[in-house]
Amino acid sequence: MTEQAKKSQKLQAPKGVPDYLPPESARFVAAKRVLAEAAELAGYRPVELPVFEDTALYVRGVGASTDIVGKEMYTFPDQGGRSLTLRPEWTAGVVRAVVEHGLDRGQLPVKLWYAGPCFRYERPQSGRYRQFQQMGVEAIGVDDPALDAEAVAVAEEGLRRLGLGGYRLEINSLGDEACRPEYRERLLSFLRGLDLDEATRQRAERNPLRVLDDKRPEVKAQLVDAPLLVDHLSDSAKEHFETVLEHLRGLGVAYSLSPKLVRGLDYYTKTTFEFVHTGLGAQSALGGGGHYDGLVADLGGQPLPGVGFSIGLERTLLALAAEGIPPQDSGSVPVFGVALGAEAKGRMTSLAGALREAGIGVDLAYGDRALKAAMRAADRSGARFVLIIGEAELASEQAQLKDMRSGEQSCVPLPDVVSEMASRLAEAG
Ligand code: HAM
Repeated sequence: MTEQAKKSQKLQAPKGVPDYLPPESARFVAAKRVLAEAAELAGYRPVELPVFEDTALYVRGVGASTDIVGKEMYTFPDQGGRSLTLRPEWTAGVVRAVVEHGLDRGQLPVKLWYAGPCFRYERPQSGRYRQFQQMGVEAIGVDDPALDAEAVAVAEEGLRRLGLGGYRLEINSLGDEACRPEYRERLLSFLRGLDLDEATRQRAERNPLRVLDDKRPEVKAQLVDAPLLVDHLSDSAKEHFETVLEHLRGLGVAYSLSPKLVRGLDYYTKTTFEFVHTGLGAQSALGGGGHYDGLVADLGGQPLPGVGFSIGLERTLLALAAEGIPPQDSGSVPVFGVALGAEAKGRMTSLAGALREAGIGVDLAYGDRALKAAMRAADRSGARFVLIIGEAELASEQAQLKDMRSGEQSCVPLPDVVSEMASRLAEAG
């Protein structure tokens, strides 16, 4: 291939990263807004954080034994020789920021929501991408089962507001410092007695709880009699879990107990949960989260607990499509302007500015198109009203106004266009 041909070859996005174009992109933005509204209704406030952090944050925060840290991070040295990593998840960064800015010494709990991209070098497939977006919350600083229940309820409220119904909430307790180490040993000795492949054996030694989550039938079959943490909870972890469930019942949030639910991050203690959607195929987790007792202290802060969740926006869109829920936002502006001739274009441009200033959305026919082609563009735009200004209209200081729904056409004096459009749109609802 010649150099020239190489230069003009079409480029593609890197493997495993989705693009969202209109109209789907509007749905993406709307979903993010609806989920955030549910968080705001419960007093969570937005936080914006860097997309890259020091690598050490994730190694310490997410855990060296996790798949994320072990094989999925986008890690690179910057020009100054620092090791940086693109955010694989939000929780560690949120805690880092809370501690760095001393919020853990202020009014507690600190309640924050966030939305933005994350990066994991995973094998791409439907619902699993190398760049994806999460919306989530973290409530840091108070150990109260009601706060765990609130986090679950906020996620559920968001999914419900989106119109989703085909999901199930799975919940478990991963215990606390008083019962986890002993249970870990119990599970490990059970796993050592099984017929496992070498990689799984090694995994069991590093993090036996993760093996419980193995989806392969030959492993699952051997795990039927595995000891379960819920049967070995300390009194305080047990009471905590039961109180969370009681609050969920009070909130009217349906759940199913899932004693083998172990999530892929090391920081969880006590409550863990996942929203599983039946229409998503293999990547069925819409979102998940849980309680973490040690993370804030591990990242240099006060010994304070936290709880939170993250929902994957790509999977949310897939779930909306699987349930056949139509997008709420058509994305079109209500008014389309067609100007014929240079002078008319000048008037139309300033009219569009005045309409937008009044909060009325306007798009215009660009390029020197003849009336017929401009009207086709108006039709395609989906606008309810079309304003037309040509030479005759300039002479009479009026615009033609066409209602695209009824086909009815009328004249509006140019100085009255903004008020006329405002009242017509109010009428049209
Ligand atoms: P996570 O389960 O790793 O949890 O991710 C949460 C959600 O992000 C998943 O349920 C899924 O919807 C989405 N997600 C994860 N990986 C991918 C991917 N490769 N492609 C598309 N979507 C993906 C966390 O990240 C925790 N930080 C949640 C949390 C917040 N725990 C406490 N607070």
